[in-house]
Amino acid sequence: MLAHTALRNLASPSARLFSSSAARQTKVAVLGAGGGIGQPLSLLLKNDPLVTSLSLYDIRGAPGVAADVSHVDTASEVNGYPADKLDQALEGVEVVVIPAGVPRKPGMTRDDLFNTNASIVRDLAAAVARVSPSAHILVISNPVNSTVPIVASTLEKAGVFDPRRVFGVTTLDVVRAQRFLAGLVESDPAKTPVTVVGGHSGATIVPLISQTAYAKAVSGEVYEKLVKRIQFGGDEVVKAKDGAGSATLSMAYAGAKFTNALLRGLNGEKGVITPTFVKSPLFADQGIDFFSSPVELGPNGVEKIHPIGPVTAEEQTLLDACLPELKANIAKGKQFVA
Ligand code: NAD
Ligand code: LMR
Repeated sequence: MLAHTALRNLASPSARLFSSSAARQTKVAVLGAGGGIGQPLSLLLKNDPLVTSLSLYDIRGAPGVAADVSHVDTASEVNGYPADKLDQALEGVEVVVIPAGVPRKPGMTRDDLFNTNASIVRDLAAAVARVSPSAHILVISNPVNSTVPIVASTLEKAGVFDPRRVFGVTTLDVVRAQRFLAGLVESDPAKTPVTVVGGHSGATIVPLISQTAYAKAVSGEVYEKLVKRIQFGGDEVVKAKDGAGSATLSMAYAGAKFTNALLRGLNGEKGVITPTFVKSPLFADQGIDFFSSPVELGPNGVEKIHPIGPVTAEEQTLLDACLPELKANIAKGKQFVA
């Protein structure tokens, strides 16, 4: 069963977003800090008391973002690095968050971003391997189902891959699931934890509504619509932005929330459990060696990968649709590096 208390902590919005329990602080880098996600994410990380130092890098505009964010009256220091200063940006960094890359336009799938984003993510991962090989890497850039294997394979090639330190950020799927379910059952999203497993694109996003306290409150067509909305929430934003990009603000929120969860784990806080896309044994026997399920975060990063728990027949059908697509996405990422 799920650790509901821990999930509830992660479910709660801004009041608990930056909760901290220990004194150790950390240097965090944002690669892609000048972008739609990078800018608000940098601001939210500046406001996280667990971040000692922020290193903001982009091929465009990072020094300006850093100058701006650095005026916020929290203790952390902020430095901005231009295109030719990637190695300097990564020096001494313990956590690297990567939102670098192009976003979708209407009519595109996340996989359509592969051709542009695969090499961006590979090159950034190679730099991390060279400069800060023991950093924890949080991958936001799409398609996450492929970019995470790209990062892992790049680190592997460099001889520094530790599966406890590479994460695909799937928190936005959890945030959406909690918000959408709470809206339906008129509950507080902070008290409506939802586990979402699988990957991060359409059918690979599998919400496990049956494991929530509201399982019986949503059924039939309402359930079907809820699942579709969680799976295709990204498309909703892409369509509404009408060519101007995809989710940035809610993603920055989700990225800051996951970063804070990791930092709390690194600080030794117990019971920090949240879904994230990691190298996982859960479906490895089917050739799927990356999967998002509830993961306990600790001083070394991934402490424990929890099983997905009991699922209904409907959820099993969702999983059956998820697995082949996920397998192909993972293989494509690995093949790119090979
Ligand atoms: P954006 O275009 O607004 O910003 C991307 C930034 O990356 C730009 O500032 C660009 O200069 C920078 N960049 C490009 N190449 C770079 C490189 N080699 N090194 C450093 N920086 C580089 O896009 P965005 O809206 O911020 O989205 C970024 C990515 O995040 C997209 O791939 C998008 O699909 C993805 N995304 C993921 C999730 C998720 O849930 N994981 C959610 C939303 C968006
Ligand atoms: C999202 O879920 O919002 C992101 O993956 C961006 C997108 O392309 O939908």
